[in-house]
Amino acid sequence: MVLLADLLHNCSSEEDSGRVPEREFFMNPNKALWEKGDFTEIAAFMRQSGEAVVQSLGITPPLRVLDLGCGDGTTAIPLARAGAEVVGIDIARNLVEAGNRRAAEAGLTRLKFQEGDACNLEGVADKSFDLTLTVFGAMFAPKPFDVAKEMVRVTKPGGRIVMGNWIPNDPTFVSQVLKISSAFTPPPPEGFISPMLWGVESNIIERFGQAGVPKENVSMIKDTYYFASPDKSPAQFIELFEHFYGPTMNAVEAAQKNGKEVELHRQLVELANAQNKSKEAGTFIPATFMRVTVSL
Ligand SMILES: C[S@@+](CC[C@H](N)C(=O)[O-])C[C@H]1O[C@@H](n2cnc3c(N)ncnc32)[C@H](O)[C@@H]1O
Repeated sequence: MVLLADLLHNCSSEEDSGRVPEREFFMNPNKALWEKGDFTEIAAFMRQSGEAVVQSLGITPPLRVLDLGCGDGTTAIPLARAGAEVVGIDIARNLVEAGNRRAAEAGLTRLKFQEGDACNLEGVADKSFDLTLTVFGAMFAPKPFDVAKEMVRVTKPGGRIVMGNWIPNDPTFVSQVLKISSAFTPPPPEGFISPMLWGVESNIIERFGQAGVPKENVSMIKDTYYFASPDKSPAQFIELFEHFYGPTMNAVEAAQKNGKEVELHRQLVELANAQNKSKEAGTFIPATFMRVTVSL
């Protein structure tokens, strides 16, 4: 079985030709992957569901929230609007900058974005957040047991952790985009742990178990996220994945090397069209995810 893991190693043409740019050579590959594209282009389709996730959390200030793998603030901004004091942490510098720009434009002074790695939240004090939220964010960090421990460490006793994670082999959009893409990408380095395992119940229980959380305190439910745009077609949406979403960009680069990029594009567009529920010209694509709630 080929999972998202197959997509998440760098396969840049520079590397293959022996010309590794100095910045990438010294860079954490996880960071390089997410800085490679511009996730804000995809996040623009996610705002509606980001707000819905925040509404479902029942935010009642005063509340300190950590949004981990926050991107440019799809959930951090509605959290701050709901009255929480929010710290957004993300590994990608360009997304942290974009988030701080959006916060300033929105006049949200109790929201700050900063660079950091979910595997090691150094500088973040123990027990400092009432809620740690991570929507398709921390799942992409390479050391899942460390991530679970860090999320538990920084969350207050009596607080909660909420994760949104994609599910391996789910028939809906994102899992299928990743599955198609992985078929066009060379296998990952040995020892690589697929981020998609954060969508599997036994792995979730094991990871939080090792962080000291009993399984009775972990609940999991399947939920639906929507990618929505009134004016961009599903084909245009796929082009954004190909140009701006690190994992798909890697698949496109690999496919170009063996002349398969047209076939990759065809399969992705066919998927997006088949899953699009919009009756108009735009895009409205549902995607199933695993919503995990951990009570501390
Ligand atoms: C699919 S995007 C989701 C972004 C945002 N949560 C949203 O819903 O729009 C994944 C995010 O996780 C971030 N990320 C990946 N690995 C990370 C790590 N080790 N630590 C912190 N953030 C990470 C990426 O930079 C990216 O912003």
